[in-house]
Amino acid sequence: MREIKKDVYYVGAVDWDRRLFDELIPLPDGTSYNVYLIKGSEKTALIDTVDPPMEHGLIDNLRDIKIDYIIAHHAEQDHSGALPRILEKYPDAKIVTNPKCKTMLMDLLHIPDDKFITVNDREILSLGDKTLEFIYAPWVHWPETMLTYLKEDKILFTCDFLGSHLAASDLFVTDESRVYEAAKRYYAEIMMPFRTTIRKNLEKIKDLKIDIIAPSHGPLYDNPEFILDAYRDWSSDEVKNEVVIPYISMHGSTKEMIDYFVDALIERGITVKPFNLTKTDIGELAMALVDTATIVVGSPTVLVGPHPNVVYAVYLVNVLRPKVKFASIIGSYGWGGRMVEQVAGMLTNVKVEILDPVIVKGLPKKEDFKALDRLADEILSKHRGIE
Ligand code: FEO
Repeated sequence: MREIKKDVYYVGAVDWDRRLFDELIPLPDGTSYNVYLIKGSEKTALIDTVDPPMEHGLIDNLRDIKIDYIIAHHAEQDHSGALPRILEKYPDAKIVTNPKCKTMLMDLLHIPDDKFITVNDREILSLGDKTLEFIYAPWVHWPETMLTYLKEDKILFTCDFLGSHLAASDLFVTDESRVYEAAKRYYAEIMMPFRTTIRKNLEKIKDLKIDIIAPSHGPLYDNPEFILDAYRDWSSDEVKNEVVIPYISMHGSTKEMIDYFVDALIERGITVKPFNLTKTDIGELAMALVDTATIVVGSPTVLVGPHPNVVYAVYLVNVLRPKVKFASIIGSYGWGGRMVEQVAGMLTNVKVEILDPVIVKGLPKKEDFKALDRLADEILSKHRGIE
């Protein structure tokens, strides 16, 4: 137990070793499942739980403190998965959540109906000398998510929202640049598809007086504006003068084009972020998508379509729905194919203007490099006015 403010404790678990989330998302810095204990003069509340493999740590941390309420912000198992075990240990405790989260917890974890108290948006729960206000915040990260504001201590508990996958021994942020990277990666992988609702949720909490933001992953923020500003920026419509190039090359033709094109963009003062998909960490690519104005996909033709690794990357771009404005495709083929149609056809969720692709047969020739210059010029002109 680590005290955050008087009678408010951190009782969660740091997962130093975890390297993959949802069998999909790389966690280069591990993560934490933050759980908080609030001891009021009359009642005690636990905020969320931990991923089931860490539940023994949570039980140890709680010792034999009596728990009256378990606030469930979110039904995903990294926060709710230890609820059955906690209810076993504390049979009189009630789960406090919203009706949607209750239904999901009943479906996902088979928790019986009589274990729940449901609350409305902005409803208050008194613990005696401490008061909790529940704030519905859908889509950060599932439709049922909510936040809790501890009024007397001005602490906003935000679950996934504003968090980061970062295992750290310090409770609070000590190195903002390191946490910025981890929080941006987390935003890119988890939150970016919900950019519009994130803006609404930021608006909803803007009048709260907040001293501490306490997310359920990563360090706590005692300078809340640091992460709120970052989220305002990432979720805004503003893009940067950048081109992200996820690519792959089989026999070197596409690589020659990529190398030339990267130089052509740099010469025009555009920031370029190429990602060789045989080597890249997919989280790095997701981070680069947060701000970029343009994506140019580079692929050879395999059978009649793009390389499967490129299909995977384009699929991710489509589901992560970045605010990208322009897209194009460059690459090569041996005898034919429909790569351009297939890549463009996958980008159904992103509102991009497709710029004329450059697809060549075999190794690029002089006129193909001129076509790449033409594409670089077009991107330069489209980026005019973007910083
Ligand atoms: Fe950390 Fe959406 O769970």
